[in-house]
Amino acid sequence: MYSEELRELIKVVEAKREYNVNLDPKRMTPEEIDVLLETYHPDYKQEQFDTLAMGPNKGGKVPKELKALLEANSRLAGKEIDLSNPDYECDVLVVGAGGSGCSAAIEANEAGAKVLVVTKLRMGDANTMMAEGGIQAADKENDSPAIHYVDAFGGGHYAAKPELVAKLCMKAPEAIQWLTNLGVEFDKTEDGTMVTTHGGGTCRKRMHAAKDYSGAEIMRTLRDEVLNRGIQVVDFTSAIEIIKDDKGQAAGAVLLNMETKEILIAKAKCVILCTGGAGRIHYQNFPTTNHYGATADGLILAYRAGAKLRDVDTLQYHPTGTAFPEQLVGALVTEKVRSLGAKLVNINGDVFMNPLECRDVTASSIIRECSTNGNGVPTNDGYGVWLDTPMIEMIHGEGAIEKRIPAMLRMFGKYGIDLRKEPILVYPTLHYQNGGVDVDTNSETCVPNLYVAGEAAGGVHGRNRLMGNSLLDVVVFGRNAGQAAGARFKDVTVGALNIDHVDAFQKELAEAGIETETVSPKLLPDYARKVNPLQ
Ligand code: FUM
Repeated sequence: MYSEELRELIKVVEAKREYNVNLDPKRMTPEEIDVLLETYHPDYKQEQFDTLAMGPNKGGKVPKELKALLEANSRLAGKEIDLSNPDYECDVLVVGAGGSGCSAAIEANEAGAKVLVVTKLRMGDANTMMAEGGIQAADKENDSPAIHYVDAFGGGHYAAKPELVAKLCMKAPEAIQWLTNLGVEFDKTEDGTMVTTHGGGTCRKRMHAAKDYSGAEIMRTLRDEVLNRGIQVVDFTSAIEIIKDDKGQAAGAVLLNMETKEILIAKAKCVILCTGGAGRIHYQNFPTTNHYGATADGLILAYRAGAKLRDVDTLQYHPTGTAFPEQLVGALVTEKVRSLGAKLVNINGDVFMNPLECRDVTASSIIRECSTNGNGVPTNDGYGVWLDTPMIEMIHGEGAIEKRIPAMLRMFGKYGIDLRKEPILVYPTLHYQNGGVDVDTNSETCVPNLYVAGEAAGGVHGRNRLMGNSLLDVVVFGRNAGQAAGARFKDVTVGALNIDHVDAFQKELAEAGIETETVSPKLLPDYARKVNPLQ
């Protein structure tokens, strides 16, 4: 429910709506974009970054919060771990049970592997489940994977690995077909044609959606498939270190039962990390759209095992996190709202940019309005700008919001805000880790038999991901990793298990003069300690 003050400000937006809805704001030039990003994007705040003093990326730039976790103590430091009698033995161990973990497990199972999935929360507790807007695939006549490639590679500032972007785009139509065959209900017109929309930075309408709960629909289907195949899934169990064998191959993981704190050993011929993102690290104190378990665990596990990271100094701040009411601060307002025609408007009721610029550009423009330009709308927690949602029904007719973005309607409706009639307040929120563990086109790291897929992997999105390429990434590269491990495990003989790399890492910490009490992987955010001073 808006306060009287905000209601007065809404009148300014209403007065200009008729004019604003017909505006077609010009796109920024590359030069304007460079200046904007350097001035306002959080990735460019040099004081928020530091250099790694050790490990495979020694000398590389990372956010301070990530450095603290990468250069932290192992949860096994000083502990005697018996690897001689594993609790689990499998061909392919999948760590994480979101979109990429389930896709990987399905494909490895399809290849005949005995698959074990471990997940620190429950299957489907993942960013995939929370994804709203859709999944990109160039499967219409006016589009092609090559055009999709140009959008994605350019949108990522040409910093991605071209071979990974190519695979992402080439495999996209097949991914949609695979999901459809498994039972995903994408939005279709009455004649069965897929409904597709634009996302920021796309030159074709290639966003396939299931209303605004696309991720939940995909996750529901993948989860059913994992269960139907009888794949073993162990909930509330996190991986806390990779195990290697005497040939230096990944050969399993040390696990932690999150409830009993028991340490367990899983032996495997191949390991696939699908541990997702890092929003709950709250880089630069930003709120996040991410689920509770997004604490960068895969980066820590892989780094300590000797794998390289890439592009981890670039994060995605989704332009439209909720800025009001305070109970929803940071929650995702899907980009689909803008692709349906809602424009971003400042306190004066003025449209200040084209709403379908790439995300980093849009987020930076909002930060500019709210900081130096003084055009932000004050909220209880800071500032926001208006996203003028009533424009959607002016363009698409009555009922469009209920039909296309019902989850948004419900989310704000619970707080007495009817986005069919009133605009909503938004501000950037931490959404995605653009980089991750460096992998090849088989999703394999430089550690033999260690694969990484989904948000934990780097190289697919360069320095900025486009909307809808994340759901696509988890499906394409989850399947890719599952297929690669499914082909590899047959030729793997596992030697004697060890965690010597963990001891070596602890030694390197000491040699680098790093004294820290931080322990990683983090596993869960530590909000409790912050709100309860007695803890
Ligand atoms: O805005 C959104 O719905 C988010 C989509 C994405 O990150 O791909």
